[in-house]
Amino acid sequence: MRAQAIEASLEAVAARVGDPAPQVYARLFALAPALQTLFVRDTDGSVRGQMLQQVFETVLDLVDGDHYGGTLIASEWVNHQNLGVPAPQFALFFTAMIDAFRDILGDDWTPAFEQAWASVTAQVAAIIEQRARQTPA
Ligand code: HEM
Repeated sequence: MRAQAIEASLEAVAARVGDPAPQVYARLFALAPALQTLFVRDTDGSVRGQMLQQVFETVLDLVDGDHYGGTLIASEWVNHQNLGVPAPQFALFFTAMIDAFRDILGDDWTPAFEQAWASVTAQVAAIIEQRARQTPA
């Protein structure tokens, strides 16, 4: 059920705008302007594009058996602190992505999409919280 809603929402977004990277990153940088400086070397947007694709694949795995998705999110949360992403801001990427999808789909953003992505956001928060507890103070 949840996996189908996530997949259907990604397909609907792709059908509407093709690559939603511009909308997702515009939303992320509106939420946290300082994060834009981290992409200064990404002159052609390829890093942002690859990262968004990685996030899609990770979420699709997370909601369909979680073979590696949870582990990847936990390790990237740590990796990204070394990249300069403040620990509390990593999960903002999911907020920005969902906000952008809601805007893109408008009336076609269904309650099933809302519920499925809300459960992903909660799962990501739990993964990060658990990883944070393992990090020595
Ligand atoms: C606010 C949230 C995030 C910011 C600001 C951010 C920023 C970045 C930046 C600047 C890079 C390029 C690093 C370089 O130049 O080498 C990068 C790479 C990457 N990001 Fe993110 N990222 C965020 C969230 C995520 C999330 C949620 C995931 C996956 C679940 C992710 C996965 C990756 C991967 C796989 C790479 C490429 C390889 C690596 O350096 O680990 N990122 N990210």
